[in-house]
Amino acid sequence: MDRLIVKGGQQLSGEIKISGAKNAALPILVSSLLSPHACILDNVPDVGDVKTMYQLLSVFGTTTTWDSNRLQIKTESLKNNEAPYELVSTMRASVLVLGPLVARGGEAIVPLPGGCSIGSRPVNLHIDGLRALGAEVHIQHGSIHVKAKRLKGAQISMQPSSVTGTENLMMAAVLAKGVTVIDNAAREPEVAELASFLVKRGARIQGYGTATITIEGVEALNDREQHHRIMGDRIEAGTYLIAGAITQGDVTVHLTSPELLDNLCTILHAAGAKISKKNESIRVKMNQRASSVNVTTGPCPKFPTDLQPQMSSLLSLANGVSLVTETVFENRLTHISELCRMGANITIKGNQAKITGTDKLSGAPVMASDLRGGTALIIAGLAAEGETAISRVYHVDRGYECIEDKLNTLGANVHRVKDNNA
Ligand code: EPZ
Repeated sequence: MDRLIVKGGQQLSGEIKISGAKNAALPILVSSLLSPHACILDNVPDVGDVKTMYQLLSVFGTTTTWDSNRLQIKTESLKNNEAPYELVSTMRASVLVLGPLVARGGEAIVPLPGGCSIGSRPVNLHIDGLRALGAEVHIQHGSIHVKAKRLKGAQISMQPSSVTGTENLMMAAVLAKGVTVIDNAAREPEVAELASFLVKRGARIQGYGTATITIEGVEALNDREQHHRIMGDRIEAGTYLIAGAITQGDVTVHLTSPELLDNLCTILHAAGAKISKKNESIRVKMNQRASSVNVTTGPCPKFPTDLQPQMSSLLSLANGVSLVTETVFENRLTHISELCRMGANITIKGNQAKITGTDKLSGAPVMASDLRGGTALIIAGLAAEGETAISRVYHVDRGYECIEDKLNTLGANVHRVKDNNA
């Protein structure tokens, strides 16, 4: 397993282009199951989870042609409706195939994705929603079996709002008979991106981006070959802005819409950063040590849970005490113990980390346990004294394209040690 070696102390400055959003690309790839016609997707991030997804889709008969961030994808006909455990167990987003498979082919068998290091990650909302749409669903031998001649429109209410739950049920409802209303739908921008892509393909969806999405089922999507450019990854962008801030540098990220990071910019501004936004970029300049600030995560439009670990690293070096409260996942503070090994002064009580900023962190060998927690350790290493070796970097490679190259473009000193025995 590869390791990243980060030599701390460099001030990051410069500009980087943000890749396409992993969490928008994944459901859009899955939506190709809904129709026999090809889609050409640009700005698809070349990351581990996308590779796993098109490997999974190929099991159902989907064909893909990959050409440097352009993906041509088509499912002319369904060859299979059972997802293999060995792929599903490595990527929770695999559960997204349930809705489209049963909407197009009438049946789907998907192993329960199981939990991961950040939480138990239940899928009851996906299952309850499919039942509401008239599917027969039962769990047998660790798999979810779903059957329906044709799904029927329904009124669905989500509690809590689930991103992939909303996406799964929206895709299922697109070909259902009648109208479906999803209340307390997730408002993350990636959900709206999927909806707008489906509308381009002939689906009838309204209200996406709000808490109530209405889908009027159609017999079939249109037969046009659909082109689409995946939106920029707001979480990747936020990660690099926080990396710039912790090194008291000056970083600009070029992505699609700066307002996707309004909540992060508010927090960074409160921590003392100078923020400037143009139509497609955000610049963060930090001239002094960050000031402490309290952060509470929540579903969009609250502070994104996917930026909480990275923010915790920045606040480890802030002046004062910060409270970081994680309300979305029950175990998304695992990076804290590794930060403490680097000299951070953090205590955890339930889902809240009390971070008493120290004036230095020291480099150390640390281990990534999940995607965003891994980037939190890299960010801490950028500002730590000496060298930080982050192991199990495959977690980070699932969602970040060429992370060491992008950081080094900004003046960091990061290199990858490949573990050839892996
Ligand atoms: C999506 O996961 C993202 N993944 C996650 O990004 C992100 O952290 C999360 O949304 C929250 O924004 C993708 O889009 C592929 P949820 P998802 O269902 O959909 C509870 C990353 O780092 N819940 O919105 O799995 C759940 O326990 C990843 O890129 C149920 O109770 O998250 C959690 O408390 C990590 N029952 C809350 O909802 C369900 O059936 C939100 O989870 C489903 C979820």
